[in-house]
Amino acid sequence: MPTGPNILLIISGGIAAYKVLEVIRRLRDRDFNIRAILTKGGAQFVTPLSVSALTENKVYQDLFSLTDEAEMGHIRLSREADLVLVAPASADILAKMATGQAGDLATTALLATDKPVMIAPAMNVEMWNHPATQANIATLESRGVIRVGPSAGDLACGEVGSGRLAEPAEIIASVLDFLEAQNAPKPLAGKTAVVTSGPTHEPIDPVRYIANRSSGKQGHAIAEALSDAGAAVTLVSGPVTLPDPAGVKVVRVETAREMLASVQDALPADIAICAAAVADWRSADEAGQKLKKDRSGEIPDLKLSENPDILATISKAGPTRPGLVIGFAAETENVIDHARAKRARKGCDWILANDVAPETGTFGGDDNEICLISGDDENSDERWERQSKTGVARALSARIIKHFS
Ligand code: CTP
Repeated sequence: MPTGPNILLIISGGIAAYKVLEVIRRLRDRDFNIRAILTKGGAQFVTPLSVSALTENKVYQDLFSLTDEAEMGHIRLSREADLVLVAPASADILAKMATGQAGDLATTALLATDKPVMIAPAMNVEMWNHPATQANIATLESRGVIRVGPSAGDLACGEVGSGRLAEPAEIIASVLDFLEAQNAPKPLAGKTAVVTSGPTHEPIDPVRYIANRSSGKQGHAIAEALSDAGAAVTLVSGPVTLPDPAGVKVVRVETAREMLASVQDALPADIAICAAAVADWRSADEAGQKLKKDRSGEIPDLKLSENPDILATISKAGPTRPGLVIGFAAETENVIDHARAKRARKGCDWILANDVAPETGTFGGDDNEICLISGDDENSDERWERQSKTGVARALSARIIKHFS
C-alpha cells in the first residue's frame, strides 16, 4: 500500500489525456496513492487498462456500478483524497463543475467532495477564450479551485494559442507545492481579521452616486494573504468586479455607513486593516426620486455631509479595538509627512503610505510602492520596493506574523 498522499485523478476527454499517464507514473514514483475516474470522453483517448496498470488501482467509470459501490461508494471515493486533480479538464467538465451538474461519476464526485480541487484545463484556443469558459473558470477560482495552465503553443487541433495542457512536470510541481503549503504551519491560525476593500458608492438619488476609482485589488489581496496564513478573515467590500478571495467571508456593502456597521459587526477581531477608499462625503439629502433637470437651466446645489471615518472609529473603539489596527494613507504629495500625521490623527498602529499621484498608476493598477510607518521615529520607517499588490499583501502578512511572534 502506497504511503504517500492520496490523489483522486479525474481524466476527462481530450487528446492531451495521454500526457496524464506520465503524471501518474511520476506521482507513483513518489509513492502517491492514485485512484482514477475515467469519463466517457477520457476513455476515448486512454484505456482503463493503461490507467489501472499505472495507478496499480482499479479505475472507476460508472456511477451506477453495483460492484464499485459495494467496494467503495462514490462519496467515499471523493472524500478519501488529499487532493482531487482534474487533468485534462475539458471545457465540458469545467462547465459542469461551474453549474454543479452531477450526471456521471466524475461530476458527482466533484460535487460531493469536501477536498481541494485542482484543474489542468486543455482545449482548443477558441474554446478556452470563449466568454462562457472564462466565466466558468472565474466561478471555479472564486470557489477556491486551483488552476494549473493551460499553456500557449501548437494545439492538437492545428491551431496555435492558449489551451495546451500544462506539461506533466508543471502539474506535478503544482501538486507538490499545494500539498506542501497545506502542510505548512499556519502562523496566524486562531487569529481573526477584518479587512475593508474597494470604493464606496454614496447615492445622490436612485440612479446617481459619488464614487472613486478604487479597484479593491489591494484589500482583496490582503484578505487572501491573511487567510492563507491561517487567519479567519472577514472582508467588507464596496462594489468591485473582483472575484471573492478563496476561504474568506465576504460582506458586500455600498456606502461608508454600511461599511462601518459591517466592520463593527465583525468585531472583536485581532487585526483590522482598512484598505478601502471610503468616500469622505455623501449627499446631505439623498433624493428619493431621480433629480430632474430644471427647465429654466438652474443647476442643483449638491450639499454634502461627512461620512464616518471607519479607521478612526475602530482605532478608538475602546474594549473592542483590535490589537493591531492598520490603515493606508493615499497621498499625492508629501507622502511620508502626510501619512505620519494621518497615523497620529486616526490613532491606528501602522499606516501604509502609498503615492497615488496619477503618474504612479497605483489607483486601480496592479502595483504598489509602500512605506510602512509604525512610529514617530522616521528611522523605524520600512520602505518596501515597488511590487505587485499581491506582493504587498504577502509582505504585510509576513510583517503581521512577525509582530505577533
Ligand atoms: N478611511 C476610513 N474611513 C473614511 C476615510 C478613510 O476608514 N471615511 C481609511 C482608509 O481606508 C485608509 C485611511 O483611512 O486606511 C486613510 O484614507 P485616505 O483616503 O488616505 O485619507 P482620508 O481620511 O480620506 O484623508 P485625506 O482625504 O485628508 O487624505
